[in-house]
This record gives sequence, C-alpha cells and structure tokens, in this order.
Amino acid sequence: MTPEQFRLYGHRAIDWVADYLENPERYPVLPKVQPGDLTDSLPAAGPEQGESMDAILADFEKLIVPATTQWNHPGFMAYFGISAAPAGILGELLTAALNVNGMLWKSSPSVVELEQVTLRWLAQWTGLPSDWFGCIYDTASTSSMHAIAAARQAADPESRTKGCDPRLTVYTSEQSHSSIEKGALAVGIGQERVRRIGTDSEFRMCPGKLRVAIEHDLAAGLRPCCVTATVGTTSTTSVDPVPAIADICKQYGIWLHVDAAYAGSAMVIPEFRWAYEGCERADSLVTNPHKWLLTPVDCSVFYTSRPEVLRQAFSLVPEYLQTKPDPRAINLMDYGVPLGRRFRALKLWFVMRSFGREGLADVIREHVRLAQDLASEVDADPRFERTAPSPFSVVCFRYKGSDEENRRIQEEVNATGEIFISGTVLNGRFTLRVAVGNQATTVKHMQRVWELVKQAVPAVT
Ligand SMILES: Cc1ncc(COP(=O)(O)O)c(C=O)c1O
Repeated sequence: MTPEQFRLYGHRAIDWVADYLENPERYPVLPKVQPGDLTDSLPAAGPEQGESMDAILADFEKLIVPATTQWNHPGFMAYFGISAAPAGILGELLTAALNVNGMLWKSSPSVVELEQVTLRWLAQWTGLPSDWFGCIYDTASTSSMHAIAAARQAADPESRTKGCDPRLTVYTSEQSHSSIEKGALAVGIGQERVRRIGTDSEFRMCPGKLRVAIEHDLAAGLRPCCVTATVGTTSTTSVDPVPAIADICKQYGIWLHVDAAYAGSAMVIPEFRWAYEGCERADSLVTNPHKWLLTPVDCSVFYTSRPEVLRQAFSLVPEYLQTKPDPRAINLMDYGVPLGRRFRALKLWFVMRSFGREGLADVIREHVRLAQDLASEVDADPRFERTAPSPFSVVCFRYKGSDEENRRIQEEVNATGEIFISGTVLNGRFTLRVAVGNQATTVKHMQRVWELVKQAVPAVT
C-alpha cells in the first residue's frame, strides 16, 4: 500500500467509524445469524495474491459487521455493558501505528513510563495508595492469575523451582468470577483446593465462614495462601466486606487479592468509595478500564503493593534481553508471563485526558441513575420482584413466575434486536439481569427495556 493509498483508505475507515458511532442502532444488537453462517460465507483458503482494500472493506461491511454482536448498541445491557470512547479508539489506532513492544524499558520507554504514569493517576482518582505498582494485562482473568501466582510465591518461594506445593489452598466467595478458580488451576493449585465461601442474603462473602474454612484447612495440614474478595460481583455487583476479610488475611498471613474488574471504575466518584474500604490493605487488586471506564478492549489494570514478590515469581531474563540496571527503567517483562506487551496505556491516557475524572464520573453516575430508575419501576410493579440489591448499574429481577417463564421473557426481549439482556441464577432461581454501561444508553432505552419485559409477561389465563 502506498502512503497515498493509506491516506485514502485511512480516511474511509475513520469515516466509517464516525458514521457507525453516530448511529449505533443501525444494526440489531444481536446479529441475525446462525452458527457457521459467517464461516460458510468466507473462502475456505486465504488468497494467494493480495486483494484490493476496496474489496476487503466491502466484505468487512457486508459479511463481518452483520455477524457482529453490537457492544456499541445502547440497548446492549447483557454481561457488563461497555463503551469505547472515540478518544480511546484513536489511541488504539495510534498504538497499532507505533506497533511497539514494551517488554523492556529500552524496547520502548514510552510504553513503560506512560503505563506507570496513567496507573498512578488512576490510583489517585480511585482512592488507592498512589505508591502501588501497576501494570496492564489483557483481561482480569490474566490479572487475577498473576495475583494467585504471587500469592503462591509469597507462601512457598520454592514453588518457582520445585513446582506447586499440593497443600496450598485458595479462598473466594461462591459469587466470585470463575476466573479466580481458573487462575488457581492455571498456577497448579487445582480446582479441588479452591474453597468457595458462602455468602449472606445480599451475596457478600461471610467472613465467619472464611475463618472456619481456613481453620479447618490448617488443622488438616494444608497451607492457605490466597483470599480473593470481590468488589462488584458479576451476577449482582455485591461488595464483599473487605475490611473484615483483610483482618483475617493479616491474622493468618494470607495474600489478599481484590477483584474489582467492574466496580473499580465507579471509584472515580467519591460517593462510591465506600466500596473500596479496606482495599488499601490488599496485596493486589484488579480493575478493568475496558469494562466501565470507556476504554476499548483490552485493558485490565493490575496493582500490587508487593511488586517484588511478583518479580520473584516471574523474572527470568535470557542473555539477549539483559539491560543495564536502573531503578527508573522498569522492565515489565519481569512482572508476569507475557514477554511482549502492547501499548495499552496510550488509549487509557487518551480517555483519561479527554474526559478528565469529572467527565468519567458524570458518565458512570448517569448509568447508575438509569439503573436505579429501572429498579424503582420493578419495585413498583407487584408482578415482579428484585432478586438482589443494586448498588451500581446492574438490576437483577424476576417475574413472579417460573424459571421457564422468566427465560421466555429474556428470549422475547432479545429477539427484538433492540435490547440484549442476560440472566443469572440466584438462590437457585433464574433471574433477569440488566446491566447499564454504554455511553449511548439513555432514558429512552431504559423505558424500552422495561416495556419489552412487561410485554413479554405471560397472559393471565
Ligand atoms: C468481577 C469479574 N471479575 C473478572 C471478570 C473477568 O474479566 P475478563 O474478561 O477481563 O477476564 C469479570 C467479567 O465479567 C467480572 O465480572
């Protein structure tokens, strides 16, 4: 491609993005495709000769976009709704253009230093200790896996050389994300050594049950090494009692990791900081700007107050990557499994600068307000019941009927192509779950989801 052609197609691509973002409801939120449709529409083998950008862009519009779930759609209220702010998209474009690999300070000082600076800003904005070490991984799953690896290292330094002690145990609540269990199995602790601690009526880990589980394991000769508390669980956004959990971790010398993948972004708003109470005592914490801080996927921020332990767990430097030691020249490859790393801080920096803390707080505050209004509608309708408190922007509720009826409501709402909601199981019963997180979502979309849910209620016979 010549520089002139790049300019031409670059402008066309940006124009496409601008149109797309201007009208995010142009496509149904859920694509109207069946499994295999896209595969069948694409050639079985790649082209021998290069094709024109005209042909490639035309197929992008004709084949790829219609098979894409529209996470940018304001009716996207499943899982955790997300947005990529235009500033973040531009940051991502420039990251691709620079195409640097930030494994070492020397391999790109900008990647390493901007990552440290943006994460310090984020810590300040969210009330976390500003001297914590931070680095960016792809997902919260990877971040939590590194937390568990560090916990293993702290409890059993020989695990690095001799492999994992089979007596190590990990604790998390029965409401925590599956990534914690996966992290434990990835570092060799094994699913059987992960204790799922019971929760209270509001889906928060019970510290008393945690203590009993730890005591029981100690008595059996096992070695508790990590507790993961969640600030904003996936199903209900409940917040575990971190101060009480931190006391227990301190008493038994156990690594405390906090999973704030979703709710961590809300801490840019001072009135939500209650949810981070006690987190300053954690050994590590993960929060995902790609969930609720308008940063394009992927961007998961991992903080630790004990970076030296992470380093002991992972630093392994071959001859050809040796550099002159300098305390200000951090080599991020020393702090985890990946050697190469993308310049993810650039898009986060673009978003943070273009909104400012107050701008981001305004967006998140509005999402919470929209969700709270829906919660009030549900509370006011005797045919429905809320199934969990809604401290942030997620509302869990159900029609007072069978699971099958509620599943049918979800299917009917999603079949419209206007709204996409998910469901979860709470206290053994299927429940509808609406998550607000898209920048384009307004009162109109919230009214629509409620209208569609009510329309799907089974007729009284
Ligand atoms: C609380 C929590 N932790 C972890 C994750 C996993 O996130 P990721 O997809 O970044 O691995 C999720 C995903 O929704 C989550 O809700």
